[in-house]
Amino acid sequence: MNEKLPELPLNRPVRVLFVCLGNICRSPAAEGIFRQIVSENGSESLWEIDSAGIGGWHAGQLPDNRMRVHARRRGYELTHRARQVRESDFDDFDLIIGMDSGNIADLRELARTREDLAKIHSMSEWMQGIATRYDHVPDPYYEGAEGFELVLDLLENACRNLAGQI
Ligand code: 4NP
Repeated sequence: MNEKLPELPLNRPVRVLFVCLGNICRSPAAEGIFRQIVSENGSESLWEIDSAGIGGWHAGQLPDNRMRVHARRRGYELTHRARQVRESDFDDFDLIIGMDSGNIADLRELARTREDLAKIHSMSEWMQGIATRYDHVPDPYYEGAEGFELVLDLLENACRNLAGQI
């Protein structure tokens, strides 16, 4: 985990947007895992949580069936409907967390101001222990079952640390 995590507002809910390429695998899984963790530790009121994709190809769709199956085995029900990232997300969220360097480069292109840029982070900033072998959350779309399990391992690790930050 990074030495220096972003400072979070303490006087109101922290608004966090998870972002990946298609918003049907990694970011809706991050959203579902994070929702469950904050629900279990009773800190739901401290967060507003959403996810979005760099591309809009899958807008309106539920997460990829493979991701839903793997997530359900761990107790996460993924019900997010995909949507594309929009400029107003920079007004509506405090943290905009990309899964890989491509997502982060694309988000930086969308940012309008230095304040917008400062909201963009990498999920890897919250990864600890064995997960620090990875500096991103790899795209599972063209992978087999192991790819989806790896994504869930990395996201559970990072989401626990993010939730623990408040
Ligand atoms: P995600 O995975 O970014 O984790 O949702 C992908 C989903 C769809 C595509 C690529 C990656 N796609 O090319 O349609």
